Amino acid sequence: MVLYGTTVESFYITTPIYYVNDAPHIGHAYTMVIADSLARVHRMMGDDVYFITGTDEHGKKVAEAASSHGVSTLQWTDQMSVRFRNAWAELNISNNEFIRTTEPRHYSTVQNFFSTIKENGYIFKGTFKGLYCVGCESYKKENELDNGKCREHGRIVEEMEEENYFFDLPALESRLLEWYENNPEAVVPVTKRNEAVGFIKGGLEPVSITRTSLTWGVPVPWDSDHVFYVWSDALVNYLTAIGYGSDASRMDRLWPSVHHVIGKDILRFHCVWWPAMCMAAGIDPPHQILVHGWLLVSGEKMSKSKLNQIAPGDLTNDFGVDAVRYHLLREVPLGADGDFSYEGMTERYNADLANNLGNLLSRVVTVVNSKCDSISPPPPAISKELPIDNLEATHTPSLTSEQADMTYTPEQIVQQLAIRTTQATTEAMNAWGQHLPHNALRETLQLVREVNSALEATEPWRKEPGSEVNEILGSALEALRIISLLVAPAMPETATAIWNGIGLSGSPETERLPDALEWGMYPGGIHLSKVAPLFPRIKKS
Ligand code: ME8
Ligand code: MG
Repeated sequence: MVLYGTTVESFYITTPIYYVNDAPHIGHAYTMVIADSLARVHRMMGDDVYFITGTDEHGKKVAEAASSHGVSTLQWTDQMSVRFRNAWAELNISNNEFIRTTEPRHYSTVQNFFSTIKENGYIFKGTFKGLYCVGCESYKKENELDNGKCREHGRIVEEMEEENYFFDLPALESRLLEWYENNPEAVVPVTKRNEAVGFIKGGLEPVSITRTSLTWGVPVPWDSDHVFYVWSDALVNYLTAIGYGSDASRMDRLWPSVHHVIGKDILRFHCVWWPAMCMAAGIDPPHQILVHGWLLVSGEKMSKSKLNQIAPGDLTNDFGVDAVRYHLLREVPLGADGDFSYEGMTERYNADLANNLGNLLSRVVTVVNSKCDSISPPPPAISKELPIDNLEATHTPSLTSEQADMTYTPEQIVQQLAIRTTQATTEAMNAWGQHLPHNALRETLQLVREVNSALEATEPWRKEPGSEVNEILGSALEALRIISLLVAPAMPETATAIWNGIGLSGSPETERLPDALEWGMYPGGIHLSKVAPLFPRIKKS
């Protein structure tokens, strides 16, 4: 675990690779922005970050999609892969690499990996008969079906019988349990960890890892009648990207720090099969797997068959890229499901971004322009002796008589603002360190609200220019500088706009965390120009 104030040498982060039977939608985008924000915060912490995503191009589902469109499988995967690549560029995803499972380097890595597992004695040949859901690309048990249909995809499962090679998953049962025991944070959040442990304790069966019924796949090196099953090949992408079998020093540098970000639909593959396969191949199981819940639309998971998918581009056109990134990260705590609605997004956009964050920047710059001849004042130093309260609670416009007793002088409010900023910063950074973007943004936007409240309580716009106005504005500017750093992993363009808006050059993303978060680093004395609204209000339709 990486915590506030400590750095690790490397931070390798992955997303699932997406099936190319489908177009990118905001469910996929959700995973992408979680991973991207974590990659960005670790870069700001000075870590050696490597961030990958890509497309999963084998399997029956993809082969069927291609033939139903009357194009060759390879043509189809070429076209669709580009759509994912473009969607992520539009969302400002900072992946270092985009991997495709049809690349030759992936074929050799998969063959190499499973040959090693076979040499280590964990692969045998057998016959498998079962009910297969093409949507899941996986066999299902009777009790996982409703009227013969897969619950997630609503597809009728197919009876399949094949001679396959099997991975001896049961042989690793006790090692898996031991690994979970010794690594309580191997899977987060804890509810998902418990689910994975539950699967293992419920009894494991051998996994069929090859197919003879199709040819669209990675050839099995020891038996030319077989190709690898799509899930066995897909998981290995995490190794292909960092040179398993070909670049030992890169593997040694990056693999120990790997973090897989996944949706809960693929928990069993990542939290049971994958660690076991790694053990069987003689490499460490993944360092951490972060499991998020589903984005639902009207209570249902998005899927092509339900025609309820929302494309990321539809939202970014209406709200802007950073607002979409923010909403996806802020709306739902990691691990929980969340219902997406246009109304909910409009509401949060107006409340958090237009009226709160955007408003803070524009009002501070406007008052500096009118009261300080456009030259920004520096922040006051923090005095350690003052009482601390939640500024928002203390300075709401309608104070009760009890609360009125707690009203402070402008000087005290400024001091409190500084102290609250450092507290909120610690909380937000702890949340980023624990890989909880939702919590980090909640803390940060709470701080923004408190800075706005402090301005409302002190009303610098009504005061004569002078030291009191300078202290209030200097502390608000310093809070804005710190807020810009804290939101940068989630909203990089907005963070830069705030940074430049308060007269700083470059971008907050090149600053070093946590050092740059210290109170008092805003220099002041900078000429500030009028700023355009960061987030124009959106009218409810
Ligand atoms: O499963 N809400 O690919 P896939 C949240 N190729 N996340 C969602 C989502 C939703 N409604 N819908 C999709 C595969 N996702 C395999 C993965 S990895 C070695 C192979 C996200 O195209 C979520 O991250 O079906 C989920 O795990 C992933 O997309 C599945 O994408
Ligand atoms: Mg899926």
